[in-house]
Amino acid sequence: MKLADNKATLSFSNGSPSIELPVYQGTIGPDVLDIRKLYAQTDKFTYDPGFLSTASCQSAITYIDGDKGELLYRGYPIEQLATNCNYLDTCYLLLNGELPDPQQKADFEKLVTNHTMVNEQMQFFLRGFRRDAHPMAVLTGLVGGLSAFYHDSTDINNPEHREISAIRLIAKMPTLVAMAYKYGVGQPYQYPQNHLSYAGNFLRMMFGNPCEEYKVNPVIERAMDRIFILHADHEQNASTSTVRLCGSSGTNPFAAIAAGVACLWGPAHGGANEAALNMLYDIQKQGGVEKIGDFIKQVKDKNSGVKLMGFGHRVYKNYDPRAKLMQETCNEVLSAMGLEKDPLFALAKKLESIALEDEYFVSRKLYPNVDFYSGIVQRAIGIPVNLFTGIFALARTVGWIAQLNEMISDPEYKIGRPRQLYTGSPRRDIKR
Ligand code: CMC
Repeated sequence: MKLADNKATLSFSNGSPSIELPVYQGTIGPDVLDIRKLYAQTDKFTYDPGFLSTASCQSAITYIDGDKGELLYRGYPIEQLATNCNYLDTCYLLLNGELPDPQQKADFEKLVTNHTMVNEQMQFFLRGFRRDAHPMAVLTGLVGGLSAFYHDSTDINNPEHREISAIRLIAKMPTLVAMAYKYGVGQPYQYPQNHLSYAGNFLRMMFGNPCEEYKVNPVIERAMDRIFILHADHEQNASTSTVRLCGSSGTNPFAAIAAGVACLWGPAHGGANEAALNMLYDIQKQGGVEKIGDFIKQVKDKNSGVKLMGFGHRVYKNYDPRAKLMQETCNEVLSAMGLEKDPLFALAKKLESIALEDEYFVSRKLYPNVDFYSGIVQRAIGIPVNLFTGIFALARTVGWIAQLNEMISDPEYKIGRPRQLYTGSPRRDIKR
């Protein structure tokens, strides 16, 4: 963080003395006003629900330029990572700041691969859930439950514990997501296989069975890997901020990541991919392309409570770059599966083109986000709709850990403790 040449002055119309606020510059993006001493100097807080103008931390991991529609992981554009690297390269990059050289890549892949099994006892824990439980409910429990199984990596202040819990989480998430799925459909769990890639192993644990050999389809494997890359990190979004806030109390990494899973579940965040696909199903049920006009009318009516799911973003005021890459993957997967004429994909494309020309969406700068097409790809792969957010959680785990570890290593880190503007009753006495 570098001090800028200029300072900001805050003055008051009631004659209270004005104060100077230091201004800091990042490498790119808006400068920040440092208000840390504001309360001590003025007896006032700032007010910013939803963090519309507040940087909650400094971070060197991910950068989004919402106006340009640009996403960088450690400086590298998402388009380059999605075409030239795999998910484990991306994990290494997010955790360590640089892409791995060939030796580092081989060592990292081996390390992750050797941690993919989960404690055998986890399956008995899983058995306590109803079979029809939502996978996100199961995952919130399983991820938090890891802290009950891996006692030797729960001290967040110990760098070695942080490192091994990071590897454990990245390695075990696919196993847990697949176990949650298999449990729900009543099939036996598939143990991980070390000769497969990260994505290939996940596909086999999801769709393999003990009766026959599972052959990984390379197009689907690449698509799965790309889904993981596109969801790996997204700077200070709601779930990442939740992980940081939760971890700031010194809780163990598994508990902090479980908090992230819980936050991601909501339909305004990771739950949007599930909601977007359900929305497409609903429109299709009501008559398909012909009903798009009626649906858009409902979306524009503020009293209807209906939103165009998979559209809009707090930061992107342009096309989400992940949505473009996801659309490309969607084309590839649908043609590999012989589903080029998939009516849901056609419906999504039509809906997108109508929304992109509609004044309501244009004036509010609402564009498709990553979730608009990810549901169609996942459905084509065979992933059930209620597992979409679980896949997002699997992929985002590395981002959460990288952000958590960055926070804990920051000498300026403190427990997160926002203030408030109290609007309740002043002190009063019980009269009876
Ligand atoms: N459909 C209809 N109207 C919308 C939509 C939408 N999807 N998104 C925003 N708007 C309207 C909103 O009603 C508001 O209108 P007005 O100015 O007239 O009150 C205006 O656009 C600004 O929206 P906002 O709600 O103030 O923006 P926000 O930054 O608070 O919300 C959002 C961002 C992502 C929660 C919101 O766009 C949304 O709910 N989208 C649908 C859910 C979705 O697709 N979420 C996935 C986000 S990307 C994946 C992830 O990061 O998890």
